[in-house]
Amino acid sequence: MSIGLPLPRVDGRAKVTGAARYAAEFSLPGQLHAVPVNAAVGLGRITAIDEEPVLALPGVVAVISHKNAPRLAYRSHKGSIDPATGERLHMLQNDRVHFYGQAVALVLAETLDAAERGAKALRIDYEAARPLVDQTNPQARTIVPQAGTADTARGDADAGLAAAMQTVDAVYEIARENHNPMEPHATLAHWDGDQLTLWSKSQYVGNEQAEIAAVFGLPQGKVRVICPFVGGAFGTSLRTWPHVTLAAIAAKMTKRPVKLVLTRKQMFFNTGHRPRTQQRIAVGADAEGRLTGLIHEGTGETSRHEEFVEALTNVSRYLYSCPNVRTSYRLSPLDTGTPTFMRGPGEASGIFALECAMDELSYKLGLDPIELRRRNEPGIDEHEGKPFSSRSLLQCYDLAARQFNWSARNPKPRSMRDGRLLIGMGMASATYPAYHAPSEARARLMPDGSAEIEVSASDMGPGTYTSMTQVAADALGLPVEKVRVNIGDTTFPAAPSHGGSWTMASVGSAIRAACTTVQEKAKATNDRPIEATASSQRDPDIAKRYSMHAFGAIFAEVSVDPDVGTIRVRRALGVYGAGRIVNPRLAASQCTGGMIGGIGMVLMERTILDTRDGRPVNAHMGDYLVPVNLDINRVEAHFLNEDDPHVNPLGVKGLGEIALVGMAPAVANAVFHATGKRVRELPIRIEHML
Ligand code: MOS
Repeated sequence: MSIGLPLPRVDGRAKVTGAARYAAEFSLPGQLHAVPVNAAVGLGRITAIDEEPVLALPGVVAVISHKNAPRLAYRSHKGSIDPATGERLHMLQNDRVHFYGQAVALVLAETLDAAERGAKALRIDYEAARPLVDQTNPQARTIVPQAGTADTARGDADAGLAAAMQTVDAVYEIARENHNPMEPHATLAHWDGDQLTLWSKSQYVGNEQAEIAAVFGLPQGKVRVICPFVGGAFGTSLRTWPHVTLAAIAAKMTKRPVKLVLTRKQMFFNTGHRPRTQQRIAVGADAEGRLTGLIHEGTGETSRHEEFVEALTNVSRYLYSCPNVRTSYRLSPLDTGTPTFMRGPGEASGIFALECAMDELSYKLGLDPIELRRRNEPGIDEHEGKPFSSRSLLQCYDLAARQFNWSARNPKPRSMRDGRLLIGMGMASATYPAYHAPSEARARLMPDGSAEIEVSASDMGPGTYTSMTQVAADALGLPVEKVRVNIGDTTFPAAPSHGGSWTMASVGSAIRAACTTVQEKAKATNDRPIEATASSQRDPDIAKRYSMHAFGAIFAEVSVDPDVGTIRVRRALGVYGAGRIVNPRLAASQCTGGMIGGIGMVLMERTILDTRDGRPVNAHMGDYLVPVNLDINRVEAHFLNEDDPHVNPLGVKGLGEIALVGMAPAVANAVFHATGKRVRELPIRIEHML
């Protein structure tokens, strides 16, 4: 059995030696470099573009804008990760500026240096209007999103709250965040006649193929997307952003391969972001600490041209037992790029509000925060009205509390010290749905006794090459050394997006099915190679019968310097019930990484827009803060050995998103315990402490 073994990464050597190639590292003879020029106003239209001086610069080959770009087909295309309502931005098709930083022109040159100089020198005149970029501005309106379930109710939440002995009613705010992976977005585009090949950073090569085919009015088979490695993405490479279209336009117009790599700053304009949110939680409990009513209202920002929808209020529907629950979800359309999914999208933001409110309620009731949650553990998913396929949240609390030595905590706020530092301990629950998306995969048995797997999935860093090798080796009864997994190419069988924590459930199950099928075939012949393609999807009958989610408990200890307000996370511990763990080494790495991402969310990350023109004022790693090694002390992840026979053939629930969910409220609750200050706004900053 290779499933369950803590194997090191099969691609580890390639990564540390530089043999693994990322999108920007592909090159073709005769390639040009493209640098996008970004709108310097937040709203309005272009009145003039002065190309001549730029074209006269050494090395510059072309300047492309709406003035000379081809009119593109922009056939209707809605991928599963595109907002259901609205339409993507059409690139270089007219003079309109929808938001600050929108790409409005492209300079092509023989070298990157020459293209950068040209882009800097390109003069563009605008007729500018003042954009609306702040959802708290009274002029911002809110709309009911057309897709998804905006409003839900069971029982009478207001009556439930009126009957409560103690209530909390508070508003929680979370800043806009940008994903900021190490690897920048990059595309190398090459046309051979009407056949387009894109070497492109993508979590979803299949959708990039379909979308670019739609944009250029091509049959899907005329586009190939290749992406063997992804250097972190966290959701920002799920969608196909405009730079891919720009690279393809440029290569078509110049009849040469074109390489386009976004700068760090450009990754703040139009490659998605975690939407800023405002949430209200009203929650009440009776004298025994049983919830009597819960209201969760949330508003997220979106763009004017698309309705980005995430699961902001979903957790409040099923996490706890409560007869009277109401949730509502609204959007604020703003003059900005469209937000997108960012690690634990919706859940991570929603649970911050819910789990801080539960913490506040525990103090009002005089109950230990774990005990309050324990008393509201539901027997079933009360929103869906069906049992959980498995739910180990109570075991997660038990194990985490023991490992964390929670019993050493003095429940009184501002009661624990280490020298002059205030010490606080906080906890929160984590949860994320266990999805299973349709996927295909191919398995091939070779004459030398080895096997090859092919599937168009991506690996953005969790170790997909490795874990899929383990799944295939197991299904084929081969040692892992005999199995080679090939991914990240649209010529391979279709896979869903590498996101939503569903890759192992979906792609892993398809690989397992393909391996089983090829072994059946092998019984009838000795000819090699022999191959089989198979698919996997969720059994609709199981989906009807069970509510399927992963759960976890996150504990954090902080120190707060009472004089200067600095906050440090001294210890963090996550215990997860997430089904079967295919590779405990990779799982721990992924979850500690996600928890560290959560430390960024709660203490550091914030994209600030200038309200005059929508310009992100901190669009660089000097002022957009993320945790670095010195910010991290002990971060540990542990896993229950959870056996879920229903969720999918592999019994896995996924780890990518839940790794971040719950960290923010655990730290915020620890900060309250340390200081007695309840901060309901993320990130929590020094100024909140003073
Ligand atoms: Mo995840 S937001 O599906 O990278």
